[in-house]
Amino acid sequence: MAVKTPWWRDAVVYEIYLRSLTDSSADGVGDIGGIRSRLRYLRDLGVDAVWITPWYRSPMVDGGYDVADYQDIDPLFGTLYDARALIDEVHDSGMRIIIDLVPNHTSDQHPWFQDALSAGPGSAERGRYIFRTGRAPDQPPNDWRSVFGGSAWTQVPDGEWYLHLFAAAQPDLNWRNPEVAAEFEDILRFWLDRGVDGFRVDVAHGLIKASDLPDLSIGREDLIEPPDRTDHPHWDRPEVHDIYRSWRRIAESYGGDRIFVAEAWVATPDRLARYVRPDELHTAFNFDFLRSPWRPDSLRSVIQSNMKALDAVGAPAIWVLSSHDVTRHVTRYGRPHTSTVGPRHELPEPVDLEVGTRRARAALLLMLALPGSAYLYQGEELGLEEVEDLPEELLQDPTWHRSGHTARGRDGCRVPLPWHGPVPPFGFAADGVQPWLPQPRHWAARTVQAESDDPNSMLSLYRNALTLRHSLEALGDGEMSWLDSPPEVLVFHRGHGLACAVNLGEKPWELPEYKRLLLASETLQDGKLAPDTAAWLEV
Ligand code: NOJ
Repeated sequence: MAVKTPWWRDAVVYEIYLRSLTDSSADGVGDIGGIRSRLRYLRDLGVDAVWITPWYRSPMVDGGYDVADYQDIDPLFGTLYDARALIDEVHDSGMRIIIDLVPNHTSDQHPWFQDALSAGPGSAERGRYIFRTGRAPDQPPNDWRSVFGGSAWTQVPDGEWYLHLFAAAQPDLNWRNPEVAAEFEDILRFWLDRGVDGFRVDVAHGLIKASDLPDLSIGREDLIEPPDRTDHPHWDRPEVHDIYRSWRRIAESYGGDRIFVAEAWVATPDRLARYVRPDELHTAFNFDFLRSPWRPDSLRSVIQSNMKALDAVGAPAIWVLSSHDVTRHVTRYGRPHTSTVGPRHELPEPVDLEVGTRRARAALLLMLALPGSAYLYQGEELGLEEVEDLPEELLQDPTWHRSGHTARGRDGCRVPLPWHGPVPPFGFAADGVQPWLPQPRHWAARTVQAESDDPNSMLSLYRNALTLRHSLEALGDGEMSWLDSPPEVLVFHRGHGLACAVNLGEKPWELPEYKRLLLASETLQDGKLAPDTAAWLEV
């Protein structure tokens, strides 16, 4: 009997940014009821699973990535009862559900942090976080920077400082304290018992800090990307792997189907592969792919080096083009610098959305033809662009404030989805309700309803590609081999006579002999593959 591929090795997973999918309670913010009303859409789109951004109790300083209670749902989003109902309904629709686990930091409103503040210096309560005395009375303990801008340290009234690699409202936990590890094991079990299929691990590369908290001495603001070194004091420390080994054991104890996907921004594919060794997390996002410029040499080498590193540990690749943290790829690919993912400090570059859209269509066929699993970010199936002109007074990303209003941050990719109708809120919420971020009026042409009626829309391309991906045995998990082609064209074979070709050059390319054209991102021109076009071929 043939061995069945584990679902997570080739699943197409749809990221739901909870605040922005659909509002069912008329407060302008997306919620669990909203997701429940869209499950049919997601199933018909052809995705295998959904990942939902944090739904826990939270003061929402960072869109829910500041958790005050890991075992309850924020009233803004619903109740535990709603979460249970959603989990069941996702399963009834034949899909799986992954939730977001935020282990690097809590909210400053979490009872543990409140206790730490009142218990004072030297207490066991402070030992759950990273409190230190400053170098001098008004100087933080070291030179670490917050990813959102400014110092990574905030002083409390008794004079001690606490570490926060993100906003001041997100104090970092001390993962060297066994109490912290035990608490998260409980949290994992709590949600596994409620039927979730897996966890996306937030900041998986950040949990452990070098004990002596040495200076970075880099003096740069943009430390979100780990420098190409493996001795960084707070990113990608070797000790994080012990945590993941213990989590894997817990997941395995629920049968083989519960999984983790790591958000780990690390320096090299080999470093990433360490997170997905057979006894650690199952999968990890491939951010090299997302950050690659739209250039054949770069894409080819990212694909090759990542496949090689992951093959060596037996893990599948997880391809991704967009998320709630980066500039939407239709916009990225329409810029002169196609690899700028944001949050941006400099003035935005001009964007050619027509070019960006064309490349995004080709990128989808490339991504879905590669071996492994792929994550889609809500709205990319509609070809939504980054909204770059949100009024400043409405910006909510802590980056805006912490950068001294120099970086607008990530709100532009988080604007609520347009579902139907000619005017905002386009079915995102009841008529007359103001969404938490305003939708551009021209999204009337980008609603699910408008695009469903158009065979050439981005949505139709996504639907066709996902339907084919399910029916073609060649796609998903497995091998790939490069075929001969000029350097500006990527062509690879996936077995069972299936090939994918992507033209990243400036001239149309004569396709080699093939039996049947299965799908193309643009119409062929006299049998040729036009620039910025991809095709799936039976060969
Ligand atoms: C990564 C999340 O995706 C992002 O949205 C969040 O701000 C940071 N981690 C901090 O939790």
